[in-house]
Amino acid sequence: GFERGYCGPGGFPSGRILHEDGIYYDDFPKDFAWSSATSAYQVEGGWNEDGKGPSIWDTHSQIPGRVFNSDNGNVACDSYHKYMEDVKIIADLGTKYYRFSIAWTRLMPDGTDRNINEAGIAYYNQLINALLDKGIQPMITLYHWDLPQYLQNTYGGWLNETVTEHFKNYAKLCFDRFGDRVKFWITFNEPWIVAYLGYGVAAFPPGHYSPGIDVYVAAHNIIKAHAKAYHVFPRKQNGKVGITLNVGWSEPYDMYNPSDLEASDRDINFNLGWFAHPIYVNGDYPEVMKANVAEKSQLQGRQKSRLPEFTQQEKEYINGTFDFLGLNFYTSSVITSDKKTDREGSYDGDKDIKGAGTQDWIGSGSSWLRVTPFGLRKILNWLKKEYNNVPVYVTENGVSDRNGTLRDYHRIHYYRTYINEMLKAVRLDGCNVKGYTAWSLMDNFEWGTGYSERFGLHFVNFSDPTRTRVPKGSAYWYTQAREYGRRRK
Ligand code: NOJ
Repeated sequence: GFERGYCGPGGFPSGRILHEDGIYYDDFPKDFAWSSATSAYQVEGGWNEDGKGPSIWDTHSQIPGRVFNSDNGNVACDSYHKYMEDVKIIADLGTKYYRFSIAWTRLMPDGTDRNINEAGIAYYNQLINALLDKGIQPMITLYHWDLPQYLQNTYGGWLNETVTEHFKNYAKLCFDRFGDRVKFWITFNEPWIVAYLGYGVAAFPPGHYSPGIDVYVAAHNIIKAHAKAYHVFPRKQNGKVGITLNVGWSEPYDMYNPSDLEASDRDINFNLGWFAHPIYVNGDYPEVMKANVAEKSQLQGRQKSRLPEFTQQEKEYINGTFDFLGLNFYTSSVITSDKKTDREGSYDGDKDIKGAGTQDWIGSGSSWLRVTPFGLRKILNWLKKEYNNVPVYVTENGVSDRNGTLRDYHRIHYYRTYINEMLKAVRLDGCNVKGYTAWSLMDNFEWGTGYSERFGLHFVNFSDPTRTRVPKGSAYWYTQAREYGRRRK
């Protein structure tokens, strides 16, 4: 366990230090949903146990050299066997929520309802019940990137609309079997990553390279699949259903230059707006996105825009399919306009990332992640303005390092400053933020970079078969901050 004063007199900074502009951690609304998160492929292991079928991440990471150091998720944190230890460290944190994902291939080994694997259902029942026993509410993600391999082989994954039907059946199975106890559902985690890295630049499985065309087709189907899952949810279960979108804050290079302001706005629309606008506004893509892709397509000599269109019926079906918006937020960049690239496959959003600025900000263990707490307040205000102050849950926020020190003062600094900016958004700006989730509960398989990047509140040694979870200073800090919150009530 973690000792008080572990690091000498005074121990780690306490939650009470979290003050600026006269507001404190204690000033969050009483029912604010504090949480921490993981996802199935990143922590479970047990990749072929008890009837589980293979997913595209199993296949991908099995191929030597695809992932950094040829790491894979075969064992990961071994949460498939050690879930009771996970429940214990979550209970120790004092947070009342825990976000995790279900592996589609544990319930439906080939992704279809031909064969339902009761052993997989039993695993999640045990986890859910153990959490509820400790008073912890599950927040479940249905799709955290681990598409059943069979659906990839048979249909070409998200390029084929048939997969949306299979996803609907999978969602329905989860609602039917777990919905009596689980009241918070996220359909997709970061569809932008799924589409852009999976079907655009091909860095992630299925590794389909088509940055200008199929990337849009995959996204189109994911949006439809989300809407189907929302519609199939039994409202009498009294739960909430939403989607989790990722975005960075795009800081305009020159805030007095209208074209930089436009570039910033356009960049956010090409990331988050791509998925949010259809669901939260009117069933259709953002105007700036439609206009830009149409213009580029025409310059490339095409008759039609490369951006697919929703029918009127589809628009009505998609519009309004939410009870909340999940936001994954980590970082920011400095954006200016660059309209010079009309090549097919170039980024249709017309942006240029200004090195100076972005690169001056404090870094982390991940190349893409710089410490920019101000961006969280700004993006929350952007969401408030664009989406009619929809209830927002921050479903991920956190920072990595590479050696996994237990003395992670940089992580405490990160959490403290980001949470404080979120608090300003709530208290000073009136943003409708309902919850906050730390990524991650523990170090885990960080996709393409394997085990080399660590985001955990808890340390895990991946060469130790016991996979003991050791609390870092940041876990202590998060726990203490919670205690202060409770004391005031
Ligand atoms: C986004 C993803 O949802 C999660 O799986 C990943 O580990 C973190 N962010 C950190 O990159």
